[in-house]
Amino acid sequence: WPRSAAWTDGELRLGGIGVRELAARFGTPAYVLDEEEFLARCALWREALPDGEVHYGGKAFLCPEVVRWLEAAGLCLDVCTGGELAVAAAGGMDPARVVFHGNNKSVAELRRAVAWGVGCVVVDSFAEIERLAALAGEAGVRQRVMVRVTPGVAAHTHEFIATGGDDSKFGFSLNAGLAAEAVRRVLAAPSLELTGLHSHIGSQITDLGGFTLAARRMSGFLLAAEREHGVTIPRLDLGGGLGIVHRPGDPVPPGPAEVVAALREAVPARVRLAVEPGRSIAGPTTVALYEVGTVKEIPGVGTYVSVDGGMSDNPRPAMYGAAYTAILASRLSAAPPREVTVVGRHCESGDVLVRGLPLPADVRPGDLLAVPASGAYQRSMASNYNHVTRPPVVAVRDGSARVIVRRETEEDLLRLYS
Ligand code: LLP
Repeated sequence: WPRSAAWTDGELRLGGIGVRELAARFGTPAYVLDEEEFLARCALWREALPDGEVHYGGKAFLCPEVVRWLEAAGLCLDVCTGGELAVAAAGGMDPARVVFHGNNKSVAELRRAVAWGVGCVVVDSFAEIERLAALAGEAGVRQRVMVRVTPGVAAHTHEFIATGGDDSKFGFSLNAGLAAEAVRRVLAAPSLELTGLHSHIGSQITDLGGFTLAARRMSGFLLAAEREHGVTIPRLDLGGGLGIVHRPGDPVPPGPAEVVAALREAVPARVRLAVEPGRSIAGPTTVALYEVGTVKEIPGVGTYVSVDGGMSDNPRPAMYGAAYTAILASRLSAAPPREVTVVGRHCESGDVLVRGLPLPADVRPGDLLAVPASGAYQRSMASNYNHVTRPPVVAVRDGSARVIVRRETEEDLLRLYS
């Protein structure tokens, strides 16, 4: 729960505002984001790495207001599409503080990034090295790049979000010798400047082992490449991936300071460290609010509690088997708990938000449920499945609330059709 979460007058309050008032003013479902929690999490990473760079992983959750918070907190930004670049520009981000990722950036995206003056492009394939060298040459600039390396580290996480193995679609394999060849080609391109090496082993990682192993392998490779070419490679970017707690009893991941200490130990002191936390900044800041619409008891089977959102605003349970929790947030209940399945409103049985959740037995239509740790990869992965409109993001702080991403309307949806 974000630090401002508190129970008063028989309801959950976020940023000093009761959930009943939030639901009445902004509707449900809604993502309620604790602004101070977001800034505090940025500061934790910043303080853990005062002599390095913290690039917020924009894919976790991005909008122009978030970009302004990053600027204020002294963070850089990692984007991976032209769309994320556009949001960075709309939020007034200094292009020099943006790193551009992606395994298949289009020529148009690369051209735009170079023209905008993006601080660094993380090259991901031989074709891209060639394309980027040509584009930078045409533009008459020397583009700073990092080479993305897959260090052959298996992160203990869901296979869909593990990216560090030799079989990954991302980057250049270290073990297969492709990474060494990529470094050679970048150094041979006069319009490219090699400023660092990059790796990212996966996401929602809760132990230090994988990070340390990747840091060691990447340091070894950096030193070997420096020796081979007689150059200095000033920076090592070890990506994001630190996990968060969703439910009581989940493994508690280390904090930013512990992660950085472990990386620092494995990396030569003169090398500038960079990290790209996304989830560990955005995730815990946000509570998803839903209203209960129906409660269905099936004798001998169980109880379904249906809410007014579902897999369109949180696809993670269906996609990754991610486990969440929820509480009855709009009133105190003395009823004994019973296990229910919280489901969404979509037309498929896999639309489950929480399984086996103990909720007071008197939960009824009109009640509000609150799902913590909903700030990362939820609004950013939300869809319009079944033509539902995507929920707003409401930032709360010191008793005031404002919309930083508005709710989509049916007009927004209908505008697409001819
Ligand atoms: N850097 C790179 C190059 C990445 O690919 C990612 C995430 C990050 C940084 C940020 O990682 P984080 O600190 O947020 O773990 N949709 C999935 C997560 C996909 C992560 C993709 N890359 C999910 O909902 O779990």
